[in-house]
Amino acid sequence: MTLEDFGLGLRSQHFPEILGDDPISTDGVDWFQILSENFIDVGGPPMRSMMAVRERFPIVMHGVSMSIGSTDLLDMEYLQGLNALADKVQPVQISDHLCWTVAHGVNMHDLLPLPMTEETVDHVATRVRQVQDVLGRRFILENTSTYVTFEEDEMMEWEFISEICACADCDILLDVNNIYVSAFNHGFSADAYLAGIPKALVKQIHLAGHEHNGDHIIDTHDAPIPKDVLDLYVKAIQRLGHIPTMIERDANIPPFAELVRELQGVRSIAEGGQ
Ligand SMILES: [Fe+2]
Repeated sequence: MTLEDFGLGLRSQHFPEILGDDPISTDGVDWFQILSENFIDVGGPPMRSMMAVRERFPIVMHGVSMSIGSTDLLDMEYLQGLNALADKVQPVQISDHLCWTVAHGVNMHDLLPLPMTEETVDHVATRVRQVQDVLGRRFILENTSTYVTFEEDEMMEWEFISEICACADCDILLDVNNIYVSAFNHGFSADAYLAGIPKALVKQIHLAGHEHNGDHIIDTHDAPIPKDVLDLYVKAIQRLGHIPTMIERDANIPPFAELVRELQGVRSIAEGGQ
């Protein structure tokens, strides 16, 4: 199955609209993203509702706890849980972030940056191949927002993620908001980032809002997508062509109808911008 067009993150408070009888309420929503950790080893009503959504819509799985960049061994228990969930959900795609979150067994629940070196490329690519072996599926890595860089960095971020995904034979989830945030925070060109990403590997795009604090931006996912991010999205699809796109909203979550309207706006922009 391939992923079509436009999606939203699945939120339990929106189950009534999504699973109700009024097709208008999901008009223009082609698929949903679930947060993998919310459904690993989970049963009962949340799982039943999610699987009811799965009967009507394609699902992608998106994780935050794989810690692909960590020097701890990969958490096989987590991976087996992820694999069991994937067997049940049969997602169109499975992704997590190019970052580290765990050290000495402690999950910091933050998507922390990696030194962008050849050594890290080899390290992460090896681990992605291990993940793909366990899952028996192609894996997708997402660029994160970052706030610090390392003196050891040997390459730009777009080179880093491209090299890892080429070495590991995996795909890229391009978060356009994260490119915008990191470009502003570190003073690099977002246009150069887009130009440096191998088109064939990009399988999904994320859009989100952020918090602009004047001299730095925090990636908060708590607001509508700002115009500057939408402008960068237009440039992204002009270069990459049509890529399945979703809105991430993780805080200040509005009524479902508001997100559907925002997604319909993204669709109009995409159709006008290509
Ligand atoms: Fe994202």
